[in-house]
Amino acid sequence: MCGIIGILGNDPVAWRLVDSLRRLEYRGYDSAGIAVSEKAGVRRIRAQGKLSGLESEIRNNSEPKGTSGIGHTRWATHGGPTTRNAHPHKSGRVYIVHNGIIENFKLLKDKLTAKGAEFQTDTDSEVVAHMIDDALSQGASPRDAVASVLSKLEGAFAFAILFAGDDDLLIGARRGSPLAIGHGEGENYLGSDAIALAPLTNKVTYLEDGDWVVLTRQSVEIFNEDNQPVSRDVSFTQATTMMVDKGRHKHFMAKEIAEQPDVVGHTLAEYVDLAEMKVDFGERMPFDFNNINRLTITACGTAFYAGQVAKYWFEKYARLPVEVDIASEFRYREAPLSDGGLALVISQSGETADTLAALRYCKQHGQHLAAVVNVPESTISRESDLVLRTYAGPEIGVASTKAFTCQLTVLACLAIHAARQRGTMDEATERRLVGALSEVPRHMNTIFDGESHIDQVARQVAGARDVMYLGRGVNFPIAMEGALKLKEISYIHAEGYAAGELKHGPIALIDEEVPVVVIAPKDELFDKTVSNMEEVAARGAKVVLITDAKDVHSGGASVLETINIPAADSFISPFLFCVPVQLLAYHAAVFMGTDVDQPRNLAKSVTVE
Ligand code: G6P
Repeated sequence: MCGIIGILGNDPVAWRLVDSLRRLEYRGYDSAGIAVSEKAGVRRIRAQGKLSGLESEIRNNSEPKGTSGIGHTRWATHGGPTTRNAHPHKSGRVYIVHNGIIENFKLLKDKLTAKGAEFQTDTDSEVVAHMIDDALSQGASPRDAVASVLSKLEGAFAFAILFAGDDDLLIGARRGSPLAIGHGEGENYLGSDAIALAPLTNKVTYLEDGDWVVLTRQSVEIFNEDNQPVSRDVSFTQATTMMVDKGRHKHFMAKEIAEQPDVVGHTLAEYVDLAEMKVDFGERMPFDFNNINRLTITACGTAFYAGQVAKYWFEKYARLPVEVDIASEFRYREAPLSDGGLALVISQSGETADTLAALRYCKQHGQHLAAVVNVPESTISRESDLVLRTYAGPEIGVASTKAFTCQLTVLACLAIHAARQRGTMDEATERRLVGALSEVPRHMNTIFDGESHIDQVARQVAGARDVMYLGRGVNFPIAMEGALKLKEISYIHAEGYAAGELKHGPIALIDEEVPVVVIAPKDELFDKTVSNMEEVAARGAKVVLITDAKDVHSGGASVLETINIPAADSFISPFLFCVPVQLLAYHAAVFMGTDVDQPRNLAKSVTVE
């Protein structure tokens, strides 16, 4: 989603802005732009598409030499992804970059139009530039103008605002969308996350909701939503200054899939005592699962599927009732939550707008708040009582892979912890399950040995119009995750179904053209899944069977391809079955030539609803 950078520096800033925008690319965007303060006024350069377009524009237009400026990567919401709609937007002296959605922009735009304002773009963001400019023209100072405008805006936003004629002033504001201040030596910065700021400084202040800030090179003044001066902590970010690279891989997604044995191992090491073969949350846990009567899990996208897997674990092992909901639904459906419940949100970025809203809803309704998050300095981390980090490292590919398996790792450990505390699991079972978890990295590596076969299978799937994924029990969410991966990066229509639900509708879609990926671990549901496979095979479907069973007696059903994975304790099957479905999607997309790491229309971090 949109990325923001602002720099009040001492050296020419144009390429520094672009460098930071490059670090924000992973969020997903479709146009980019910068505005740089020069003696003669502000130079604005924008381009549709990837940053390379913006770089060419900068080179071809005599590079700006000014030392203060703002930059933006835009993920279009209002108005198409064109150069005209790219940020920064301007009105008079005011140049603005915006992340979020101004919900009352239509009303505000109509008022401004009635007063004679002329709009250059179709965006909601331009309205804010005009409003600030309007306030300036009535004699307000930049800070008073911004304060008065902020109070009139509805929706979610983060802004960085530059004023032509004042190259030592930058104003930022946040409500809903994240924004951080970077503190440099005789320089100050604004950025939508610590990753953007990392090469500039590791001293960061995260603005709280409603805060706004006036920056000069030497000063930082923060105000809350009541325009009262406030002080906010300075923290030392752990965000890496290294530009994360693809290593020997062609895509970040391939690298991140391959990193899973390592990062699952690192995450596991945080939550288990391998010498004793038991989970160990140390002093972290602020509540006792004996006092928790219900668990409410909310998340979006891939993180939601991790939550769905966890439901099976918590219900089976800890006998704890679990509800899992998509955050965008949960936040508005006025779910009754009784005291003593635990709300668990799952988010790679820790910034997803709907997940954050769900967390806040649960807070208002007296729930204990826990979060499984990959970015420790994110808003969700900061607003949760208990933060259970995943140690996936920066995930750059838009389609989530390693964050998912790290989320599963934390959730599996938490479910075991809950079960032990509630007395629903004995020590021997805990030892067995922790032992199984410790074998996940090794088994994942074995699956990679068969990657070239999965590549061959993927080429057969690549031409399909529709692909169906079937799974049962704890692997039903893996079927949905497999389908999500395929549609995200290859743009092939795919659906994940509970295998038993097949005959209640989806079987009507089956013909010789439809590959069906059957996820069939050798567990207590294996025979039932194989029966469902036969039902689709009998109707001509091209079956791709993923299984850890040695022999599958399919009753004569013809299986196009079988992807064998190592036999392991069925507790860890979601960890292992998700790897071939990730690889299947990846290789299908590579074969089809799509933009694997930044698929069309998608964003890594969805900070608007
Ligand atoms: C976007 C990303 C997905 C991700 C989802 C939730 O849709 O493209 O990969 O699963 O957001 O993101 P979160 O950061 O909350 O896990």
